[in-house]
Amino acid sequence: MTNKASPDLPIGVFDSGVGGLTVLKAIREQLPRENLLYLGDTARLPYGTKSPASVLRYAMQATAHLRERGVKMLVIACNTASAVALEDLQRALAPLPVIGVVEPGAAAAVSARPAGRHLVLATEGTVRLGAYGKALRRLDPAASVRELACELMVAQAEEGWTGGDIATAIVGEYLRPMMAGPSAYQPDSIILGCTHFPILRAAIRSVVAESVSITDSAGTTASVVARELSTRRLQRADGAAATLRLLATDGASRFARVGGTFLGDALVAGDIELVDL
Ligand code: DGL
Repeated sequence: MTNKASPDLPIGVFDSGVGGLTVLKAIREQLPRENLLYLGDTARLPYGTKSPASVLRYAMQATAHLRERGVKMLVIACNTASAVALEDLQRALAPLPVIGVVEPGAAAAVSARPAGRHLVLATEGTVRLGAYGKALRRLDPAASVRELACELMVAQAEEGWTGGDIATAIVGEYLRPMMAGPSAYQPDSIILGCTHFPILRAAIRSVVAESVSITDSAGTTASVVARELSTRRLQRADGAAATLRLLATDGASRFARVGGTFLGDALVAGDIELVDL
């Protein structure tokens, strides 16, 4: 096994489940010629409520699997795993480039709202580690940050409840106390610090004013991937059509059904290969 990167290899993308497909979608849009290999650790989802030690162990096992198959770069398309394990994974896989989603998401929010009042919506695990707060303050010392765990919104996104009264009710329960009232934080920037939340953007917008920016990390992470490939001269040169391979650790049918919403493309169970880590 080697950590040596070669332009012909796919980009490896890893998430706890299907949420990272929002990041994969953005990478595919920006880099349509690149082969992609995605692994969703659906057997152990969610990561957001697990201890850092468990998330680190899972992330190490999943990325070792991708490395064994051969990838030229790894994208940790999971906020919780990025918050817990990015530095350990970078050390373990060096010199293979490993990119997380927290820093790119924070950078996008700072450029949308310099000296902003940022509200980060994330899992319990990401909030506990304060990963976005650290990244935002590092990038913009004038930033103000509040981080809010929204676990029910993860389940909501998986159920596909992206619109209608129930979507507004759940999102509103988390957000309204932050937006209005005597002790409300009143952010001018909302950061979708969980891979599941981009598909809830319309529901979130329905309870926050147009003047509040809503940022996710998918597009900026894809830009970082493109920049790294170019800097390291790792762009694929082969002119054949790009491939997308999807791996999961459990539940191919559910992965296909729920994942299709996140990817924006219909999937069938036969598109997903089940693997044991
Ligand atoms: N992918 C996770 C994240 O972005 C959300 C789902 C989970 O808790 O595993 O934090």
